This record gives sequence, C-alpha cells and structure tokens, in this order.
Amino acid sequence: MQNNVRPESMERITTKALADAFIEEQIAELRAQIGDKKVLLALSGGVDSSVVAALLIKAVGRQLVCVHVNHGLMRKGESEQVIEVFGKELDANLIYVDATDRFLDLLAGVEEPERKRKIIGGEFIKVFDEEASKLEGISFLAQGTIYPDILESDGVKAHHNVGGLPEGMQFELVEPVKLLYKDEVRVVGEALGLPHAMVYRQPFPGPGLGVRCLGAITRDRLHALREADAILRAEFDNCGLAESVWQYFIAVPDFKSVGVKDGKRYEGWPAIIRAVNTRDAMSATIEEIPYDVLHKITDRITNEVPGINRVLYDLTPKPIGTIEWE
Ligand code: XMP
Repeated sequence: MQNNVRPESMERITTKALADAFIEEQIAELRAQIGDKKVLLALSGGVDSSVVAALLIKAVGRQLVCVHVNHGLMRKGESEQVIEVFGKELDANLIYVDATDRFLDLLAGVEEPERKRKIIGGEFIKVFDEEASKLEGISFLAQGTIYPDILESDGVKAHHNVGGLPEGMQFELVEPVKLLYKDEVRVVGEALGLPHAMVYRQPFPGPGLGVRCLGAITRDRLHALREADAILRAEFDNCGLAESVWQYFIAVPDFKSVGVKDGKRYEGWPAIIRAVNTRDAMSATIEEIPYDVLHKITDRITNEVPGINRVLYDLTPKPIGTIEWE
C-alpha cells in the first residue's frame, strides 16, 4: 500500500495528459492490489467517491460493489444522477437503498442541530452496515479519502468510517486518490469521463438538506426546501454564477409569515438564500448577486414552490455567520 505522505517530487495534476497517466498507473496498482476479489464502496455522488468509483470500475469492473444510500436529504435529482451515471452509463454493480423513511422517522420532532447531525451520521453507518452484511466475499473497502483529509484529520471520512462496520468484518482499505488535492481529483474525474456537473459540484454537507430544513424537519417543509434549492441552482446555472460562486443554497426556517396569494391570505415559510465565496470555509464573503437575478429567483420560488411566500437574502459574512445555518 502507498503510504500517507505525498512525495515532494509528485507533480500537481493539472492537465488531461497528467490525469491520464495517473489513471493508467492507478489501474495497474488497483488490479495488483485487488486481484479477483471484491471491493465495497459507499457512493454518495460527491466528487471524491464518484471519482474513486469510476477509477475502480475501469480497473476491476463489476468486482466493485457500490452502495448508494439515499437518506432522503439529498438535493433534487442527485440520487437519480448516481443511478443514471453509475448504474446505467458505467454499468456499475450498484445497490441503491432508499432509506428516506428511516431517516425522516428518526428525525421527526428533533430540533437540536447537533442531535440531528448525530442521528443522520449514526443511521447512515447502520444502513451501510446492513447492506454490507448481506454481501458475501468482500475483501476490500474503498474510500474517497483525499490528501486534505489526511492532513486535517485522522484520514478517515466520517461517513465512510471503517470503524463503523460490524465487528468481524475485516476489510483492507483501497484509497486511490488519497494523495491528491481536490482540484486534482476534479481533473482526474473529467479525464475519466464523469459529467462536468458531478465533478465540479459545489460542497454539500454530509447531513445534506437536514441542516438547511431548520429545526424539526417536516416532509412538507423539506419538499419546499428541495424545490426552492433546485430553482436557485437552475438560475445560477442560467446566469453563469454557478461556475464562480463557491457555495450557494437555500435554508428554510420553521416559522411562517402572513402573505397574500390570489387575493387570499397565504401563510408560508421564507426561503433564505445563502451564496458565499471562500478559499477554505474558515471565513467567507457574500456574493454580489445582480438584482435582476434575485428578482427572477424570488419570482420563481414564490410562484412555483408550495408553502413559500417570501425570499430573503442573507448578507452575513463568516464570521459572524457560519456558512450553514445549523
Ligand atoms: P460552516 O457552517 O461551519 O461550514 O461555516 C463550513 C463548510 O462545511 C460544511 N459543513 C459540513 N460538512 N458535515 C459536512 O460534511 C457537516 O455536518 C457540515 N456542516 C457544515 C458547510 O457546507 C461548509 O461548506
């Protein structure tokens, strides 16, 4: 196995040619490491796990078993994209688990943000473990660990935590991108032919929309959040902001205000836009969204999303506001 220190001589992967060379080298190494055995991967659809999946599919094909757990807190269309790209286009051995009801039932009535995070993280590991225990003959666990994970933590991603697997299950780790920085993972992803939108996806927290549906999550408010967020993303795509803004999303709080629709009183939740720029997420500044874009987004969200009757723009930099509301 590779060790965990990036050699000083290692060239930064910035071009397709360098990415292709990396891919060839990794395919040979992965084949040598894995042989004819089976590998398991938790595939979230995020950049890192997607690139690892695509690399492993190239190296060992259907010896890779991908498990995609839909916790019901994904953005609109994300689980569908995983199924389309990996299940159909790349013909991966993909197990799709729709665990929406399990997660939302456990979260019902839970207001406290850290408890929500713990429930989501804990349940994720449980669902993944259950799927893993049904499989036979798995020898390896693949992870989308990248170099900053090694530099900043103990090198194990929380949601792919090998420590969370059932006792007695002994897997050897496969971490083909662990010496790469995020920008390099993206170049490799494009060279592997993954869709641009998947490779350049903005950061998305593990607990997903769960920390943006503020307070106790309800299905109707979660639905409104998902739809409003999809409109924000579509309009950012339309005006080119999607390529330049670091992170942008909607949060929906659990209170209503009075409004008027079709001549009648209409009580609804506000949709709060957050759009920030940062290098490292430790501090962040606010994007100057043009007013015509803000008006268009407001118009669409208030007209198209049931339950929303106002749109607000959060102008708070970090510090003092964190990027997420919870
Ligand atoms: P904050 O809100 O702390 O966020 O300013 C900084 C960055 O981290 C992301 N974030 C999370 N990512 N699990 C994650 O994987 C979490 O619980 C979590 N909370 C925040 C956030 O989206 C931002 O990019």
